[in-house]
Amino acid sequence: MASISGYERPDLRDLLAFYAEAGVDDALADDPIDRFAENVRQQTAAAQQAARATPSGAGRSEAVPARNDRFAAAPSRPMASASVPDEAQAAAARELASKATTLDELRQIMEGFEGCNLKTTAKSLVFADGNPQAELMLVGEAPGRDEDLEGLPFAGRSGQMLDRILAAIGLDRKSAYIANAIPWRPPGNRAPTPHEAEICRPFIERQIALANPKVLVTLDGLPAKLLTGSPDVIVRLRGNWKTHTTASGTVIPVMPTLHPDYLLRNPAHKKLAWRDFLEVKAKLRELSGS
Ligand code: URA
Repeated sequence: MASISGYERPDLRDLLAFYAEAGVDDALADDPIDRFAENVRQQTAAAQQAARATPSGAGRSEAVPARNDRFAAAPSRPMASASVPDEAQAAAARELASKATTLDELRQIMEGFEGCNLKTTAKSLVFADGNPQAELMLVGEAPGRDEDLEGLPFAGRSGQMLDRILAAIGLDRKSAYIANAIPWRPPGNRAPTPHEAEICRPFIERQIALANPKVLVTLDGLPAKLLTGSPDVIVRLRGNWKTHTTASGTVIPVMPTLHPDYLLRNPAHKKLAWRDFLEVKAKLRELSGS
């Protein structure tokens, strides 16, 4: 922080980091600017200038793009289209997801899927980390900035917390499989909308069916709601076994628990997560008969 006559001003770097974290990546002025009108003005001026410079009048109708005309002068590349989330996108996701017969196929299908608007602003598809053969699968909500940059779930501070939680029950990323309910980062880490969750639901459901874990842990409310159908808030849900039924009818026990980010903000509640993970450990023992 810089101090100017007693006023604490944030360092410019901190401020820019804050904006980047919030998903602000374009500089805007205080007053709105009509770039389209500006663009037309520039094109008209360029065309008039070209016409004046061509004595014969040849090429009069050809507009010369102005140097800073970012629309007209832009190289022609396909524009990323942001689909408005609706039921048609969710139906397309369901159909595509059901075709995947392996996790690799599913990842490829998701890489090629253009029906989720979140993909437009995300840098990566955050598919999974860990061991797909593991008995335990954890499902988080959605990638944040670190995960989007690395292309891996729980890559940042909350991931370190998750690693400590797993270590407490004798597991690590080689003995657990980790994914997210939403595989693309929502801009500025905003909460995914119900439509976005519905579009992504078939993918995480298929991922679970293909990984076929013995036990699922959902981290936070959204994956718990999506996978168990329970409308309860996470503080009421957590610590109580629920189930997830795959499309082929396999019933998987689900332990809804608190998100590592929440535990970082509320360390006093770590004891609740600890209890939940002891339950998970006991369930894994019970199901593997040891
Ligand atoms: N929070 C999540 O829910 N998932 C991640 O991958 C990272 C943070």
